[in-house]
Formats: sequence, C-alpha cells, structure tokens
Amino acid sequence: MITALYAILFYGATIVLVGGLGYRVWQYASTPAPLKIPTTPAPVTRSGVVWRMGREIVLFESLFKSNKWIWLFGWMFHFALLLVLLRHLRYFTDPVWSWVALIQPFGLYGAFAMVAGLLGLWVRRFVVPRVRYISAPSDHLMLALLVAIGLSGLAMRYVAPTDIVALKAFFLGLIWFDWQPLPGDPVLLLHLALVATLMIIFPVSKLLHAPGLFFSPGRNQVDNPREKRHLAPWAAKLEAGARGTKR
Ligand code: HEM
Repeated sequence: MITALYAILFYGATIVLVGGLGYRVWQYASTPAPLKIPTTPAPVTRSGVVWRMGREIVLFESLFKSNKWIWLFGWMFHFALLLVLLRHLRYFTDPVWSWVALIQPFGLYGAFAMVAGLLGLWVRRFVVPRVRYISAPSDHLMLALLVAIGLSGLAMRYVAPTDIVALKAFFLGLIWFDWQPLPGDPVLLLHLALVATLMIIFPVSKLLHAPGLFFSPGRNQVDNPREKRHLAPWAAKLEAGARGTKR
C-alpha cells in the first residue's frame, strides 16, 4: 500500500517537475527582451558574457559585492546542496560511479553546511528589520521545507537508519518500471514526502531563480549597443511588415 502510494507520488512529482520546469524555461526563452539592458560595467563580447555568467553561478559574484552575510550563507547552502545531491546519486545508479563513491564523505559535511546555511538565511529574515518586512509566508515555508528535508536526512544517518539497499531497489524499480517494496520507516517516509512536495512546488516557486538566472537580460546581454543594433527576431518581423505595407 505504502509502496504503491509513494510510487505514484514520485511518478506524479517527476512529471510535474520536468513538465513544469520545461514549460517555465520555454516561457522564459520566448519572453521578448526588447531593450538592451546589460548591467554595467558589462562584457563587450559573447565569451565575456559566458565568463561573467560562470562567475555568477559558481561564486555568486554580484551577491558577494552587495551583501557579505547573505553571500556567506547563500553560497554555503547552495554549494552544500550540490554536494548532498551528488552524494544521493548512489541511490539511483547501479553500479555506483567511482567519483560518486569518492565524494560520499564530502556530501556528509555538505549536509551540515546545508542546514547551517539555511538557518543563517532564515535568522536574517527575523533579525534584519528591512528583510523581515518584505518576507512573505512562502519565503519562510521554502526555508522550513528545505531545513526539514536536511534534518530528516541527517536523522536517518545518525538517529534512525533505514534500509538503504531496499530503498535503492525501490527507486531503481521505479526507473525500470519493476516495483520493489519501499521500507516503511517513518523518518524515510517523511524525508521522501517532503522531497516530493519540493519537486511539485518547484515550478511555481521562487526556486525558479535557478533556471531564471540564465534568462536575465541584465546578465546575458553583450554590452555592444553602439556597435550593433539590437533587434529581436519578432521585432525584425514587425519592421519587415511595416516596410511591406508602406510600399
Ligand atoms: C528521491 C530523492 C531522495 C531520496 C531517495 C533520499 C534518501 C535519503 C537517504 C536514504 C538518506 C540517509 C543516508 C544515509 O543514511 O547514509 C538521506 C539523507 C539526506 N538527504 Fe535525502 N533523499 C532524497 C532527496 C533529497 C533532497 C532533494 C535533499 C535536499 C534538498 C536531500 C537531503 C538530504 C540530506 C541533507 C541528508 C543527510 C546527509 C546524507 O546522509 O546524505 N535528500 N536521503
């Protein structure tokens, strides 16, 4: 019964996550950016834009320049999340890739750093008056959800271990459509229910800043308005149409 429920939950959550994210990315990609608005000083070549975007994604450069505390906790959380997710790959791959086996201990440090980063970001929403004023319930809920996922994961590691072999068989079974029983430990069921919730709300949440960053005109445009006229394809069509009617 629990196996069937969670199997359906994870199929549904995966469809919502992949479909929803695909739809959002398509929306972002097809939204007109009619004006040249790179955040200056900005790169004047395409490779310069790629380099700046890379620094933004890996180091959170502009956040570093604007606020050291948010940068510290934000970067810590995101980098730790990456390690945690990479560590999780061992539940979905058979055989486990050697580099995934190698990073296991780092993923564990990552779990602590992830929760610490999230708590730092959360405290700021209470103690900085300006930030408290603009914090919506969803800001708190997102943090609560991620902290709860982290703590339930750590609880499985240190307090109430689960049967990892059976869990892996369940997820590989989902992937290959050959269902296997899911262990019924309460902490595991909580961890998984929270993860499925995260997957379902991702495409309608502020967490969309992850793909959104790539489509930000202030970040992805080359600063060359004097050298080259900025004409979006849809605007070019309009212009061609207008010329056509004049004739
Ligand atoms: C379907 C997806 C997931 C499954 C099957 C899963 C399963 C597990 C399991 C079995 C553990 C215990 C590991 C151990 O005892 O060694 C764990 C730990 C943990 N999980 Fe997840 N998890 C999933 C998704 C996530 C996500 C999306 C996050 C973060 C947003 C997350 C964060 C953590 C953390 C921080 C730990 C503790 C550190 C560790 O042992 O790796 N999990 N997870």
